[in-house]
Amino acid sequence: MIYLDNGATSFPKPEPVRRAVAAAMDCCGNPGRGGYPAAMEAVRRIYDCRDAAAELFDCKPEQVVLTSSCTHGLNMAIQTLVKPGSRVVISGFEHNAVTRPLHALNAQVIVAGRRLFDPEDTLREWENALRQGAAAAVFTHVSNVFGYILPVEEMAELCRIYEVPFIVDAAQSAGSLPINFRAWSADFVAMPGHKGLLGPMGTGLLLCNRLPKPLLAGGTGSESQNQEMPDFLPDRGEPGTPNVAGAAGLAAGIRLVRRMGLSRIACREHQEAKRCAEGLKRLGFSVFSGEHQGGTVSFIPQMDCEEAAELLGKQGIAVRAGLHCAPLAHESAGTLKSGTVRVSFGPEATPEQSRAFLQAARKLL
Ligand code: ALA
Repeated sequence: MIYLDNGATSFPKPEPVRRAVAAAMDCCGNPGRGGYPAAMEAVRRIYDCRDAAAELFDCKPEQVVLTSSCTHGLNMAIQTLVKPGSRVVISGFEHNAVTRPLHALNAQVIVAGRRLFDPEDTLREWENALRQGAAAAVFTHVSNVFGYILPVEEMAELCRIYEVPFIVDAAQSAGSLPINFRAWSADFVAMPGHKGLLGPMGTGLLLCNRLPKPLLAGGTGSESQNQEMPDFLPDRGEPGTPNVAGAAGLAAGIRLVRRMGLSRIACREHQEAKRCAEGLKRLGFSVFSGEHQGGTVSFIPQMDCEEAAELLGKQGIAVRAGLHCAPLAHESAGTLKSGTVRVSFGPEATPEQSRAFLQAARKLL
């Protein structure tokens, strides 16, 4: 199989990640719940994961809250900043993991910046919306559907200028683009552990510049006499027994990313997405591409998208079709009715993968 669905998850997981998960299962007890060696070993694994993340994202280890997914982190961050009915500014490329929690809070959602691959437009619209004030702003670093890399530094700066607390959804960028938590001064950055960071599914991270509102209350192994959740990081966001094996695998994934180098990963992914976009255009497909694009490219085949993905699948090419849980992004691009077929590259992207994909795509015609 040629796996081109890294936007959904990285696959297969690298050997060091698999080994770290298995080793943790062999030697770890419950962290923070005992002083015996197996419990202490688990503490070490959990700390190691925070430490690896803190190094990669320029923050302190205690600012790293372990979550079960990016969605989990986004929900925690949104519920911290957004009171029911309040005004929230979001980009035109947000995932349901952002829009559904806002809908549930009955937030007054202002969508700012809907033009693909046009950072000037994004920034103009972003500033216009922020100028009128908001309880919070939420924006994705990279569109999961189109690979558009939003001008995140400038958007963060505008949030700071207009004093709007903000959350960055780094679902598609963590592990391939720099995330400078300290420099961005974001209130929260949420990310999955299982995509670009190469860790197991069921892992995620929420980087916190303020105390999150706990979504769950329960045991933390700390301040057990107190019936309130601890008022310090990371315990406030981490009730219950943590996913130690997942954290161990994620730490191995993060270290692997650091060894491979973000710029090399981004360059490979971008090059192959570009090669695919050009090839698809030559074949006559309608393709969404531009400058400021990461390793993801979407196109519309001359048939139903799901059917095209199925036909590609039968030729051994794994891609995702439809709305990609991001109807807002499709609405912004005018593809809400048709959906798209999405090709998303990973850190091991090669020209051979692109060529095999294009050969299979030709057969759709
Ligand atoms: N949000 C993931 C995707 O884009 C699952 O496919």
